[in-house]
Amino acid sequence: MGDRMRTDYCGRLSRADIGRDVTVCGWVSRRREHGEHLAFVDLRDRTGIVQCVVDHAHDLRPEYVLAVTGTVRKRPEDTANPDLATGEIEIGDATVEVLSRSEPPPFQIDGRTEVDEMLRIRHRYLDLRNPRMHSNLVNRARVNAAIRRSMEAAEFIEVETPTLVASTPEGARDFVVPSRLHQGRFYALPQSPQLFKQLCMVGGIDRYYQIARCLRDEDLRADRQFEFTQLDLEMSFASGAEVRAVISEAVAEATEEITGVRPAAMGEITWHEAIDRYGSDKPDLRFGLELTELTDLFAETGFNAFKAPAVRGIRVPGGGDISRNAVDDLTKQCQRWGAKGLVWMRVSAGEPLADGARSAAGGRLAVTSPVAKFMSDAEIDGVLGRLGVEPGDMCYLVADTWRRASGVLGLLRLELGRPPVNEGGLHFLWVVDFPLFEDVSADGLPIPAHHPFTMPHADDLDVVAAASERMASGGGFDADTLLGVRSQAYDLVLNGWELGSGSVRIHRGDIQQQVFDLLGIDPAAAQERFGFLLDAFRFGAPPHAGFAFGIDRLAALLCGEENIREVIAFPKSQSGADPLTNAPSHISAEQLEELGLALVASEGEQGDIASEGEQGVVAADEDES
Ligand code: AMO
Ligand code: AMP
Repeated sequence: MGDRMRTDYCGRLSRADIGRDVTVCGWVSRRREHGEHLAFVDLRDRTGIVQCVVDHAHDLRPEYVLAVTGTVRKRPEDTANPDLATGEIEIGDATVEVLSRSEPPPFQIDGRTEVDEMLRIRHRYLDLRNPRMHSNLVNRARVNAAIRRSMEAAEFIEVETPTLVASTPEGARDFVVPSRLHQGRFYALPQSPQLFKQLCMVGGIDRYYQIARCLRDEDLRADRQFEFTQLDLEMSFASGAEVRAVISEAVAEATEEITGVRPAAMGEITWHEAIDRYGSDKPDLRFGLELTELTDLFAETGFNAFKAPAVRGIRVPGGGDISRNAVDDLTKQCQRWGAKGLVWMRVSAGEPLADGARSAAGGRLAVTSPVAKFMSDAEIDGVLGRLGVEPGDMCYLVADTWRRASGVLGLLRLELGRPPVNEGGLHFLWVVDFPLFEDVSADGLPIPAHHPFTMPHADDLDVVAAASERMASGGGFDADTLLGVRSQAYDLVLNGWELGSGSVRIHRGDIQQQVFDLLGIDPAAAQERFGFLLDAFRFGAPPHAGFAFGIDRLAALLCGEENIREVIAFPKSQSGADPLTNAPSHISAEQLEELGLALVASEGEQGDIASEGEQGVVAADEDES
């Protein structure tokens, strides 16, 4: 054995080792007394658990750290444990050296019961001993390694970009860092390496990548942390389709690494089709319940609620057994999502006619709905026919603008049909041709759907030029026209999560100026915020395009986890605090002075963030769907 502290990992011992003298090291997972002097001790390390048969084990407590030396032997036939990889063997005649003692842990490490999230984060070092967390981190590391392999094979160059930067344009709040040497000035932490990777393209790097840490001060959710990691990539002289191919390959490589199965070719639909069919720009393709267009059926309707630009619906096969209360809840939910109301129609067989039902489809079907009396036979038959209903089905209809009706039904679709995170397989989808502008802000300016360096769709460049000219000459703009302008932005979607976004970039000064004009960013402001990029573009900018996807999100979905916290070693709690290190923390008066800072309002007590955070967790988790 020489100088080695151990000869083997616990979880890797097997029948093949029977008869060997071994030393294993690890933590006491469980201890069971066997008669007066003998005990079974389950010893755990990163590979798993092995049973050790130990004399006089009564002073061994859970989470004690041991070195156990003994002989591997076959367990008696009837005591083998088929649930354990090492279940056929045990270490017998074992002698124990206690390397480290443990206080009773605040929660059971291998326990199946739910442990409070704050407690887990507060004692993350214990939580990391849990096999599930361990395997999540191992899988995350394998995802990173697979991505790197893929990038290196495609001759991408890894470039590290700075973390103390000027504000970057991803649209969230910045985390800022005060400068000691330049008092009154602040660095921002990067929301992404966006501008630097574009500068890399001007610098002739040609193919850049980075596994980059990004920081955004935004509301935390299941798929959002302040700090997260992107695979960030940029390519020169490449089309959007080429970028998508490279990303598809990296994501497929990572997926195969974890699941053992290479995902099918990733389909592609336009943003318009995604909204039209799924009511979402990140469709979850694991289930059906697609949206159906019904507007034309109500062209001459007498039902006031349906005198709207669009009427759309979904059919829930077999959904007719939903209770009246549940339907009322869905209606309220839809109103919270912005709908004016929700029409439902319960479909049953035509004969005999149930109480309050109305005969439809020539007597073959019957419909129960509080608004059936406002609709004509032709309208009802039209809806049933278009949706292709069967007895037992439920239909939901919303009238509004196309965007809003689709959006509400898209959320309803998820509510009614979305499978648990680890069911239904992995369905990747590219969504292309996003609109250039997402909406119009309260002060009347278009809001970019991606960042302002996104190239408009080639077919819509004329519209952009004309609109910016009109805007520059004080003519305002026509919102409908502008919201119809497509961009060369694309997203990768997995099971209803936005995995990543990218675009072909603007490399021409004149087009960039037009887009800034439309966003109300005047040349002076543009120069102040992004001057260095615009300057660089005056010295020979290659056409370029890129993408970034969230590694936390990919790893979470590949591990079957609902929350990206489960694949992050040291996450923030829901309230953004770290109950382990007590961050964010106060700084001393001297530190403040050195930085030239004075606090306007002191928070008062130098209290413990952990207890503040705990309340935050409860409140925030409640309104998370
Ligand atoms: P975007 O802002 O869409 O694009 O971000 C890309 C991807 O990063 C992940 N992500 C997050 N993950 C966890 N927590 C967060 N708070 C968070 N915010 C974003 C998501 C998202 O899809 N520079 C552009 C990319 C480009 O155009 O090349 C960008 O950052 O998975
Ligand atoms: P009202 O005419 O507002 O009393 O609504 C009658 C019924 O139609 C109620 O069940 C509403 O939920 C529903 N409803 C009203 N407006 C809409 C709409 N725009 N889309 C779908 N259903 C609606």
